[in-house]
Amino acid sequence: MNKAVTVLGIETSCDETAASIVRLSDEGVEILSDVIRTQVEEHAPYGGVVPEIAARAHADVADEVVALALKTSGLALSEIDAIAATSGPGLIGGVMVGMMTGKAIAMASGKPFVPINHLEGHALSPRLAEDCPFPYLLLLASGGHCQFIAVEGLGRYKRLGTTIDDAAGEAFDKLAKTLGIGFPGGAAVERLAKAGDATRFDLPRPLLSRPGLDLSFAGLKTAAARIVEAEELDDKARADLCASYQAAITDCLAEKTRRALKGFAADRTGAVRLVVAGGVAANQTIRSRLDEVARAFGARLIAPPLRHCTDNAAMIALAGAERMRAGLTPEDGLAFAARPRWPLDEASARTNPIYGGGKRGAKA
Ligand code: KG4
Ligand code: ZN
Repeated sequence: MNKAVTVLGIETSCDETAASIVRLSDEGVEILSDVIRTQVEEHAPYGGVVPEIAARAHADVADEVVALALKTSGLALSEIDAIAATSGPGLIGGVMVGMMTGKAIAMASGKPFVPINHLEGHALSPRLAEDCPFPYLLLLASGGHCQFIAVEGLGRYKRLGTTIDDAAGEAFDKLAKTLGIGFPGGAAVERLAKAGDATRFDLPRPLLSRPGLDLSFAGLKTAAARIVEAEELDDKARADLCASYQAAITDCLAEKTRRALKGFAADRTGAVRLVVAGGVAANQTIRSRLDEVARAFGARLIAPPLRHCTDNAAMIALAGAERMRAGLTPEDGLAFAARPRWPLDEASARTNPIYGGGKRGAKA
């Protein structure tokens, strides 16, 4: 029997300011509060996240968001066992705001501070909602990340493949920006794609014919931008372009997931689980293709509820709580320095230093 732990988690690595209180015990996970304040409106005029605006907006509301998370949990600070905050990777200004907020609360209350890798939060996020025992294969596909991770256990992650340039969500956002249909763009592209003909435009599927699990979306982005530049597109053509583009991304993700799952399943016995997380997991076309891929291996596809696919603090609090219970916390969390880059699998990042490029590569 292991002691229950209650952790306040803070997330500020991109464009959501979030705070949450999670209790972890032998009975499971209890989310006592889960506050997310998005900055979509602040960044919408620029068609993308502007780091300086993000950092300032986090600083403006961090205290308020933490106070609201405490209030809705019905707990006093004295009833919290530890403070966990995303301490990288991400847009460093925002990361610093959340981490310093967490450290200040930890110092003032004399509680441990647990620095959390944002990617570990995503990797553990399926465990917030359901019984999702280790090991499992994770496809993390969001605006900042696109990678396959074998989640073997707490703190034991093996990166199997990653985008060598842009993340899938970033590719969706870019097309939406080019077509002027909104930010963030994934949902807008999906909406238009519903009425489109996915075979109208012959778009590239980068790296698909090459072996391995790496992904690339930069060439696809450029090919679509050329089409938009070259001809005046009517509504039908715009819908067809969205559908063709979504199909290209879906094909790349599905085929690489198939390969990843094949290798993952071959290495072990017992039930195989595939988890998809990140904002792109909201896409129904992608989700149903991944479901087919999983079924072909007799595996189950687990997609956390959208609220916990996208950036949130419950996953950070859970990572903190799991680390507290396992005794996997640094001796002096307060001494931890924020990291703009912080690969989950440092060994693989060292042997493949080309990874991490792209506009938002700091997160990828
Ligand atoms: O996980 P998330 O909220 O933030 C990051 O950590 O980046 O993911 C946001 C990304 C955006 O790029 C957005 O365009 C994409 O997820 N997204 C979608 C959909 N909804 C959000 N992409 C495709 N289809 C969607 N329905
Ligand atoms: Zn994220």
